[in-house]
Amino acid sequence: MTQYYDVQAVRKLFPAVEKMTYLDSGFQTPMSKPVKDALETFISEGYETAGPKSVWIDRIEQTRAKVAGLFGAVVEEIAFTKNTSEAMNIAANALPLKAGDNVLMIHGDHPNNAYAFLNLKKKGVEIRFIPMPEVVNADSFRPYIDANTKAISMSQVTFHAGHRFDIFGVGRLCKEKNLYYVLDIMQAVGVVPIDAKKVGATFIGCGTHKGLLVPQGLGLLYWDRTRTELEPAYLAAISLANPPADFIARPDDMAPAPTAGRFELGNFNLPAIQALGAALDLIGELGIEKIQAHCFDLGDRLIAGLDVLGVNLVGPRDRLNRAPHIYVAALPAEEWIDYFASKDVRVSPERDGVRISLGMFNTEADIDRFLAVVKERGTSTGRSSRAA
Ligand SMILES: Cc1ncc(COP(=O)(O)O)c(C=O)c1O
Repeated sequence: MTQYYDVQAVRKLFPAVEKMTYLDSGFQTPMSKPVKDALETFISEGYETAGPKSVWIDRIEQTRAKVAGLFGAVVEEIAFTKNTSEAMNIAANALPLKAGDNVLMIHGDHPNNAYAFLNLKKKGVEIRFIPMPEVVNADSFRPYIDANTKAISMSQVTFHAGHRFDIFGVGRLCKEKNLYYVLDIMQAVGVVPIDAKKVGATFIGCGTHKGLLVPQGLGLLYWDRTRTELEPAYLAAISLANPPADFIARPDDMAPAPTAGRFELGNFNLPAIQALGAALDLIGELGIEKIQAHCFDLGDRLIAGLDVLGVNLVGPRDRLNRAPHIYVAALPAEEWIDYFASKDVRVSPERDGVRISLGMFNTEADIDRFLAVVKERGTSTGRSSRAA
């Protein structure tokens, strides 16, 4: 039991985490029982009774409502995508950008966000990368804005060092300067609360295979429905305000749907969407604020332990500027990653060290095991952290 929720009960829902020290939710989360059950329900319905599809479609809308709740949005503002990259590409290509316009991004931010916008160079749009210090806020962007700046696109939380950027301050700047604002929340979603309206985002995108607990292949897009000028680059019947009931395309009636459905194409990833519904129920039962608080506490324990071992933390230490659940220890990945694997500790190699990333099921014992494994090698081989 933690002060937030019964973490031992949560662990029972993720059997894989009892077989190893799983500190890699920033890569993907292990499958939980509710998600497995939802996937199995879909499989047996398809296998034994061939649907019916209408039931599956109803479940899409139920899940959409849960996503809207998570984002502080309404259902009309939520679209399902394949992953973050698709969400970012939909956003980049919907913005009314022309040759000479520029978009601001952060150097070293995730490439799946960056390339969606870099591809607009073909249209003559300039992508300006601002430097990435430990803190990124409105003042970081301000000096780079000129009359041709039309948008800012950035991550809420970085994958490689766990920065948590000031998305509210940047949102206010976008409002002040009348810029479109696109957010990649892939590393944050499911652990760090998000309120699309408070943030003032135009688009928010993510995948669901980390904090949202669903296997790869499903993504989400939030669209501010007051931005009706933003139209999809691709079109299918489902994207239209009036899809033809007789399935004969009408060239004279191609207005996009008034909802985020305008950005959706064809059939959906039905099993994954149903699994997401189950995952969101689990997150909702625990409470995302509590998951966040639990991860912050584990992070404090990790930082204190690294300090004792003399291992530097890459990225911010303070709760204001760090993510609750993503930490990078300055242990050269090429020297350490195989060692961790040999000890059944699952972590990820990153640019500047080894990433320890947490989920709702992690415990103090996981943190202590990681630290003990570092200490064991550090003391026996004399290895220590990379210089500050
Ligand atoms: C910030 C960020 N964006 C995007 C992705 C992944 O993109 P996609 O969902 O398209 O695979 C990741 C990591 O997987 C990420 O950390």
